[in-house]
Amino acid sequence: MSNTVASPSRSGVFDSAADKRVEQFTESVSFDQRLYAHDIQGSIAHANMLADVGVLTGDEAASIEATLLEIKQTIDDGEFATSISLEDIHMHIEQELIDKLGDVGRKLHTGRSRNDQVSTDLRLWLRDALDHIDQALSSLQKSFVGRCAQDADTILPAYTHLQRAQPVLANHYWLAYTEKFQRDRERIADCRKRVNTLSLGAAALAGTSIPIDRENVAKRLGFELVAANSIDISSDRDFVLEAAFALSVISTHLSTWAEEWILWKTVEFDFIDLPHEFCTGSSIMPQKVNPDVLELIRGKTARSIGNLQTLLVLVKGLPLAYNRDLQEDKPALFDIVDTVIACLEIAAPLVAGATLKTQSINARIEEGYLDATSLMEYLIQLGIPQRSAHHMVGSLVGEAAKRGVQLAELPIEEFAKLDPKLDDNVLGVLGVKNAVGAFKSYGSTAPEQVKAQIEQWKSRLGLS
Ligand code: ARG
Repeated sequence: MSNTVASPSRSGVFDSAADKRVEQFTESVSFDQRLYAHDIQGSIAHANMLADVGVLTGDEAASIEATLLEIKQTIDDGEFATSISLEDIHMHIEQELIDKLGDVGRKLHTGRSRNDQVSTDLRLWLRDALDHIDQALSSLQKSFVGRCAQDADTILPAYTHLQRAQPVLANHYWLAYTEKFQRDRERIADCRKRVNTLSLGAAALAGTSIPIDRENVAKRLGFELVAANSIDISSDRDFVLEAAFALSVISTHLSTWAEEWILWKTVEFDFIDLPHEFCTGSSIMPQKVNPDVLELIRGKTARSIGNLQTLLVLVKGLPLAYNRDLQEDKPALFDIVDTVIACLEIAAPLVAGATLKTQSINARIEEGYLDATSLMEYLIQLGIPQRSAHHMVGSLVGEAAKRGVQLAELPIEEFAKLDPKLDDNVLGVLGVKNAVGAFKSYGSTAPEQVKAQIEQWKSRLGLS
């Protein structure tokens, strides 16, 4: 009988206590304790709903609520001891309630299962985490857009195949990342809708004969939807997978940016200075100022993707409905959330604090014939077919390279040789500044386009 008290999930059907090794192997309290506040939130809503439908008295619900809040305070204060003899945080809190309230506490679990609690608590926890991530994404976007005033006059080479391709405004780069993080925010918002679904009330898997009111609980907890099928929702971890996918994409965006800036910080590129507060040194080479934060952001992407993989493999092949395998979703989900938040929160000040090395950039900006495509488009506008213009400019680049000069430095006769229509006016699209000025299309690096987009982003992000 004493076993029943120590382990509430072992009913009278058991003829022995659990083997210690099983207790140790199956516990989840070591990691699911971080759900405690959401567990209490869910239990309070459940208790009050039970009172609304007449299963509990108003007094019973009120004392359950007050006692749960006391327990929360104890846990907040770090004064709540856990033990693996109670498997998870849900059982810990319920047991504490029973210790304090006796039979009234024993009524809380009416019409619900632990599977219900696990899923509901995880949804509540993840909803808060997604809101935090959205905030962090918005701060990072503000860092990028916030750079635009200081970098307005800087032109950078843009690359394809990591070979110099076309000149772009530095701000066009910053807005490129702003767009990527915007899509991330949209994915988070979309995923949040499905996270924000009430699962509580599926009970074990089939629902319950207790006259619970799930709409009532949904309203109390701010859930937008009430899951319509108890078997589905008690097996569902799609919301965890979706969140992990959205977070993995954020990580890959961060990794692209980190990789780019790591390159830019090399002597070979020499495009950027990172604030020394965000760099680390070498214990042997005194001259080193290393971009370790960026490297770790890139490296931690492996953890995000690994966690997504873990979650996908975890649910593959599970029959309906709840299976204990699902307990393993928490370490992976917690880790991906912690990792992505840490990366976003260190990225924002790093982006804001870096300085473009304009002298070094400008010294080599005319290298690599970044204006060749503008020249080709100029020829096209003179009526020369694209394929011919492409070929002509290729031969001009070859000639300039042979002479060791820029396209703008070739004698005008070299142009006229290819087509008599070509005269001095061609100089109007040569050189990176002119080339950038020649862009027109929506979404391009055309200065007016970029300016308009910066304004739009400022107002979207609430920047003055
Ligand atoms: N600690 C478990 C978890 O996190 C609770 C599962 C309870 N359900 C069960 N049928 N044993 O998933």
